[in-house]
Amino acid sequence: MVQRLEKCGINAEGRPVVFCVMDGVGVFKEGPGNAFWLAKPENILKFIEEAKQNKLYREIYAHGEYVGLTDGDMGNSEVGHNALGSGNIYTQGARLVIESMREGTFWNTQQWKDMVVDTIKAGKTVHLFGLLSSGNVHSHIDQQIMIIQKVVECGGKRIRFHPLLDGRDVAPDSGLEFIAQLEEALAKARDAGCDACIASGGGRMHLVMDRYNAEWSMVERGFNQIVHGVVDPADIKDGYKGYYTTAKEAIEEGRRLFPTLLDQYAPGFVIVDAEGKPVGKLEEGDVVINTNFRGDRALEISNTFDQGAEFDKFDRAAHGPFPAVKYAGMLQYDSDLGIPKTYLVPPPSISDVMSEYTCELGIKSFAIAETHKYGHVTFFWNGNRLGYINKALEKYVEIPSEPSDMIEANPAMKAKEVTDELVAAIEAGEFDYYRVNYANGDMVGHTGSVPAAVEAVKTVDESLGRLWEAVKAKGGILVVTADHGNCEEVLDGKGKPKTSHTTNPVPFWIMDAKYDGKYTVNQDIDGGLANCAATTMNLLGYEKPEGYMQSLIDY
Ligand code: 3PG
Ligand code: CO
Repeated sequence: MVQRLEKCGINAEGRPVVFCVMDGVGVFKEGPGNAFWLAKPENILKFIEEAKQNKLYREIYAHGEYVGLTDGDMGNSEVGHNALGSGNIYTQGARLVIESMREGTFWNTQQWKDMVVDTIKAGKTVHLFGLLSSGNVHSHIDQQIMIIQKVVECGGKRIRFHPLLDGRDVAPDSGLEFIAQLEEALAKARDAGCDACIASGGGRMHLVMDRYNAEWSMVERGFNQIVHGVVDPADIKDGYKGYYTTAKEAIEEGRRLFPTLLDQYAPGFVIVDAEGKPVGKLEEGDVVINTNFRGDRALEISNTFDQGAEFDKFDRAAHGPFPAVKYAGMLQYDSDLGIPKTYLVPPPSISDVMSEYTCELGIKSFAIAETHKYGHVTFFWNGNRLGYINKALEKYVEIPSEPSDMIEANPAMKAKEVTDELVAAIEAGEFDYYRVNYANGDMVGHTGSVPAAVEAVKTVDESLGRLWEAVKAKGGILVVTADHGNCEEVLDGKGKPKTSHTTNPVPFWIMDAKYDGKYTVNQDIDGGLANCAATTMNLLGYEKPEGYMQSLIDY
């Protein structure tokens, strides 16, 4: 349970505090792939300079063990916003799953028995789908291959895999390398007497992995491929057939016909036999396992499989009856709402998040982002819980985004609209604490386009300039940081596009319109994102909640 906190002596007047996340803007040396330096963001550079003079600037860490991952893992928005919003480091899905597999717990649970062992005994098929990647952001191929091996060990006679190509958390064109690894594991399964093969697939930003209700058509396309063996007719064009006998052939043909399309946007494919029949349609009694452990892009597809007649996003029976199958997630993606109903590993239990404290204290808060990052400042921020903690004290605003394939052409995204709305809220003065996420540095960074990423940084810069004017006019405090790096490294060491996040530290600074020198940013503690919540509580005028990681300020 959260405890009411005492005042700490800072900001006794209760001036507004604004916490700003520049998504995907890390700190890295100047170079041809560093969009931050190429953009020369005037406001940000000036703000940082001033903050340095006031001893209110430092860098903090946003990757590996600082966010509950394994040392050396790049950060990501889920773990980053979890840490920012909860004031603590929780061992995250990526680690929970692999540790439970290695220790053996994974294979000894009732869920594994019900989902896999019983399906095998009933002579049915084990279907696996998910992001085929070593990115360790949504999934890891080692875990997927371990599941295949274990199914065979348990006597499984039929496996169908529906891989989604990544190219967003790993090199943009690495899809075929992962397909080769998967094919090798499936070939071994076949050698051991299990009929195992790839059944369908395509790009992760085209199929299945939508988030925050942005593009349900992605989920529909993926569902129809996995369940009914049907490719979206819109994908079948310009010579691309949609139905192939191997995944490699489909991917190579897609690349040849659409050379500008990165793996993440690759068209869908369904694998067919010599007669042209899909090899892996779902049948009654089969089990489908979502091998992704991260929640945001797994919620919609989980509801699609789990919900009954109340499901209204699209017609699941448009291409034939939706068979009664069993569905399990690698993790439970939302434990409050119980999505999905069955899962193989219990998720981290993130408790006493900062929003619970602010609500308990009667602090009124406002959270805003455009759709692509909306759940980051709400769902992830609140420890993977959908919805309000206390609606009477909180307002969550989502500015509708454009589809993600339009981001490269419009790197400004909806930053202006986000800022308009946020500035208006600050001017109206109804809230004590505001938080915002600017998506540009990250979402544009994921395109691997340097000119677009430079524009993205300029957009964030302009927005921060406007934001500070509004905060200053209210005599408030603005805290700026990032959840992980991305746009500061849009090219790899060889000058090729780099679409994934980075392990770089992120900037952290405070701007206080009435700064009187009574507090400074501590340069000595080994600071990471999880230290920000206590810092914000201090700036709001309260002590560090018990059990939270140390604040970044000394006072
Ligand atoms: C995505 O889901 O878009 C990427 O895999 C990770 O990006 P994010 O952690 O910034 O959301
Ligand atoms: Co990202």
